Order: sequence, then structure tokens, then C-alpha cells
Amino acid sequence: MKFFIDTANLHEIREAQALGVLDGVTTNPSLMAKEGISGKDNIMRHYKAICDIVDGDVSAEVISVDLEGMIREGEELVEIDDKIVVKIPMIKEGVKALKYFSSKGIRTNCTLIFSAGQALLAAKAGATYVSPFIGRLDDISTDGIGLIEQILTIYRNYGFDTQVLAASVRHPMHIIQCAEVGADVMTGPLSAMEALLKHPLTDIGLEKFLADYNKGNS
Ligand code: E4P
Repeated sequence: MKFFIDTANLHEIREAQALGVLDGVTTNPSLMAKEGISGKDNIMRHYKAICDIVDGDVSAEVISVDLEGMIREGEELVEIDDKIVVKIPMIKEGVKALKYFSSKGIRTNCTLIFSAGQALLAAKAGATYVSPFIGRLDDISTDGIGLIEQILTIYRNYGFDTQVLAASVRHPMHIIQCAEVGADVMTGPLSAMEALLKHPLTDIGLEKFLADYNKGNS
């Protein structure tokens, strides 16, 4: 399973990259706003800065909701760097944009996926990735991981190449559950990735090993 970090924070992206397990980055307009990045030139520069840090795909989201606008923005975004994947919302014009970009060999990530039907449409339109938001589904008492499983089954049934990118991951158990059901990618915060390495018995064990070493070597 590929690990993407879901942030526009350069420090966190560097930290995840330094850990050696990072496969890519996802951003969205809210995450860019959280870092205070606004204005087209600053946004484009920020995407370039992200691309310069990571070895992997960087999802950059369009703001337009009409086909022409999405195509214009997407074509500008992919000029920034070969790592850019154009993130398109799951709306009618978005499906058309997915089809357009796929016919041009431009990679896409269809975002705001909350149902198997939406994921099926995105795959048929040639999306490279689909992003089902599991945390937001869990927030409304709906089984986010269950949706990942359902989409994987549908894609397997028909041999779709579209990768299932589990998004809106909130904690380490989400990551483990994504891996159990076979999601292709998960995107989440650095805190959830770092939480995977924590275990009290590891800390206790290491403390004892070091204390025993020091007894005979000090
Ligand atoms: C997906 O690419 C989105 O950026 C993201 O995962 C949404 O997560 P949230 O529900 O924590 O905002």
C-alpha cells in the first residue's frame, strides 16, 4: 500500500519524506488555505515546492466547476512538474474532465467520492485514482472502510486500472484497516503515520536493553 501525506505543510512533508516511507502527497483547497497560501502564483509556486521534496505523485486540485475551466486549470497544473496529478471533483462536469484528461494521458485523482456508484463512474471515465473519504463517512455513522472494500470488489470484477486512494484517513487504525482490505493507497496526516510505530512494549524493551548494555559497558 502506498503512503501519501494529506497536507500542504512543507515541514510535515519533509518529515514524512525523511522517514523514508512516503510515496506522494495530496492537497486540497482547504489544506492550502490552512497554510495561508493564496493567489494563483503563490499556489503554483507552493505546488512546485512540494514536488521538489517528494519522490512521487502530488495531487493538485482544480477550483473550477465547469469543464472548460477544469481543463484549463488542469493543463496549467501539469506544466508545473511531471509529478502533478490533477484532482477533479466528482460532479457531472468532473466526469467529463476525467475522460478528457485520460484521453490526453494526463493523470487524475477524482475527489469527494462517497459512494460505489461514483467510484464506478470515475473508473469508467478513466481516473487514475479515486479518493473515497473514509473519515467523513465514519463521521456520519457510515462505514468508510466498507466503501473501500466495495469499490475494490467492483474494480477487481472488471479489471479497472483505477487505483483506490483511501482519503480522509484520521488515525492509525484507519491505515491498518485500509491495508487489510487492500486499498492501493492511503492518504492521511503525519500524526497517523507516526502513530504506527508506537508501542509501549517497544519503549520498555529498548529502555531495558540500553540499561543492560550500560551495566557492562560503562
Ligand atoms: C483527500 O484527498 C482530502 O484531501 C482529504 O483526505 C480530506 O480529509 P479530511 O476529511 O480529513 O478533511
